[in-house]
Amino acid sequence: MVEGMAEIVVLGSANMDLVVRQPRLPEPGETMFGSSFATVPGGKGLNQAIAAARVGGGVAFLGAVGGDAFGRELREALAAAGVDVDAVALVERPTGTAHIAVLDGGENAIVVVPDANGVELPLDEVQRAAIRAARYLVVQFERPLPLVAEAVAFARSVGVTTVVTPAPALPLPEDFLENVDVLVPNAGEARELAGVDDETDAARALSRRAGTVVMTRGARGALVARGGEVVAEVPPFAVTPVDTTGAGDTFTGVLVARLAAGDTEPAALRAASVAAALATTRPGASPSMPTWSEVRPLL
Ligand code: RIB
Repeated sequence: MVEGMAEIVVLGSANMDLVVRQPRLPEPGETMFGSSFATVPGGKGLNQAIAAARVGGGVAFLGAVGGDAFGRELREALAAAGVDVDAVALVERPTGTAHIAVLDGGENAIVVVPDANGVELPLDEVQRAAIRAARYLVVQFERPLPLVAEAVAFARSVGVTTVVTPAPALPLPEDFLENVDVLVPNAGEARELAGVDDETDAARALSRRAGTVVMTRGARGALVARGGEVVAEVPPFAVTPVDTTGAGDTFTGVLVARLAAGDTEPAALRAASVAAALATTRPGASPSMPTWSEVRPLL
């Protein structure tokens, strides 16, 4: 890490989440009532950056927003959490949005419209300098995959640890997984990427190519696989969820921040699991993420 530069760089999406609480999903052609509407800063990249910063990580965000009110709000939300936004690109497209239905019981259904996140930009010198100076690069798949793959390959080439949330699951470029140090899929993403039905077999298979696979399983906790074997299970932290949006992002952000802080892998995984569970007890993605002083007493 270089002095004055962030030790964690998150390259990813920033969306304004347009969230409706509703009892269930409507059928095609049906009109139904929801019970509330809110706009909430989200996007998997922004969420991971804020989650890491809330528990003490030094984070820079490499994202793209439009010159509209949503873009300004997202930059402000990141900066308010202490995230460095100097390298957030302003592009000539509307800021990305996510249209989220939160159902009774806390589950959600999400449609993302990438807009600014989808602008095809190469990895520029400012971004390369930020990655080179960091210890961890964290990415997801809501930015163009060629950019994500370029960033991951570059980070690997300069000795920066690469952490990848493969969400949404997409067909991967050749040799992509070989550049991944820590892959954090949920069970569905793991099954889809590995092309096998059993989630544990999927985690094992992926870990033969990526360094470590941490597969999140919602209320069933997480599983760690390395070299084709399951090496650890992370127990769940029991809560009553009201909104699971952003829980996976909280897990990844906190895992990286705690590893950067010097925690052992089991301690960082436990902190990530507790933080993700806490995030589900509050509405919204980024506003639901806990601070270190909330997580620490529960460990
Ligand atoms: O992972 C949750 C996030 O997915 C939401 O905040 C939404 O913006 C989508 O990117």
